[in-house]
Amino acid sequence: TPAGLFDRYGRRATDMRLSLTDKCNLRCTYCMPAEGLEWLSKQAVMTAAEIVRIVRIGVEQLGVRELRLTGGEPLVRADLVNIIAALRKAHPELPISMTTNGVGLDKKAAALKEAGLTRINVSLDSLHEETFSKLTRRPFLDKVLAGVDAAWAAGLGPVKINAVLMRGINDAESPDLLAWAVDRGYELRFIEQMPLDADHGWTRRNMITATEIRELLSRDFVLGPDPRERDGAPAERFEVRRRDAASAEATGPVLGTVGIIASVTEPFCSDCRRTRITAEGKIMSCLFSREEFDLLGLLRQGASDDELAQRWQDAMWIKPKAHGMDHTGLGAPDFVQPDRSMSAIGG
Ligand code: GTP
Ligand code: 5AD
Ligand code: SF4
Repeated sequence: TPAGLFDRYGRRATDMRLSLTDKCNLRCTYCMPAEGLEWLSKQAVMTAAEIVRIVRIGVEQLGVRELRLTGGEPLVRADLVNIIAALRKAHPELPISMTTNGVGLDKKAAALKEAGLTRINVSLDSLHEETFSKLTRRPFLDKVLAGVDAAWAAGLGPVKINAVLMRGINDAESPDLLAWAVDRGYELRFIEQMPLDADHGWTRRNMITATEIRELLSRDFVLGPDPRERDGAPAERFEVRRRDAASAEATGPVLGTVGIIASVTEPFCSDCRRTRITAEGKIMSCLFSREEFDLLGLLRQGASDDELAQRWQDAMWIKPKAHGMDHTGLGAPDFVQPDRSMSAIGG
């Protein structure tokens, strides 16, 4: 068996998240400031060949079993299809998924599938043009909806939809979003907002909690336990049935599944299997880790595969026990928000 990405607490990372770019064509308020961020220079970002080498080391030497491409927005990279094709050629069996905001996906979905992408998750917080534009600061709702449908049609399913709920903005729409998703066979996941916005606007009071999400959905639906194993997944899943208005009981068949990702109030750090590589080739053991290990710098200095694998193992060994300040977590009064936003870390 290959050497693994173990940490001091007995966890093993087999799930690799690799950011292809820090750039994005939306400006979601929970992620980026309106004016955007200072983008990395082209030179600072991993090339396709560097990405392929890093993934190969992860898979062949360190036991990575799943790859997810993230950003920023992965679709803004012009060589995205080539990167996926090269990764697929090197790893015929590796599950390769992507998390995207869906802008431009309608034009790329078929090519992504053809290149060997396995499946896709799309971020979509609202079905109303006005709310969508307020949240993302861009009027691209129709493009995203076309992208989601194109991904499904291209065979990139099961399609998952990620929605971050923001108090007073899209929280009241959550049952409508779920109705839309189950109607089309998409798996919707509601996400608690994490303190990873560049503006540092996150407050505990404003965050919509998992408990509130369940309450909001109970307007129209009854959620029952999903019999499938959670298996380290961030989302707790529920079976969705309609709620009969008169009796308040579940009625009719199971319509689909909904997930709730409660990173803040019900953290899943003890089961975390993730290792992350930022767009500039730094290893992050956790979204909230304070230290970054420069893998790309070492690679560009001519390091061997073994040396790179060793650095990766060293970085993962000191993965924090839980997010925030080790034992305390996001809810603690002394939690310090990381300097980097979600888009810069890699979603
Ligand atoms: P699936 O394999 O499809 O379930 O993917 P996923 O849910 O792991 O990936 P996705 O990129 O869709 O992430 C969904 C959400 O999980 C993100 O929007 C984040 O809010 C959250 N998330 C992603 N990575 C981490 C992490 O390392 N820690 C925590 N706490 N949350 C994370
Ligand atoms: N909290 C929770 N999720 C976030 N995302 C971006 N910023 C945050 C945040 N502050 C989500 C996006 C996308 C995924 C990559 O990360 O909605 O689905
Ligand atoms: Fe872009 Fe994703 Fe951040 Fe929205 S959450 S601004 S889509 S990187």
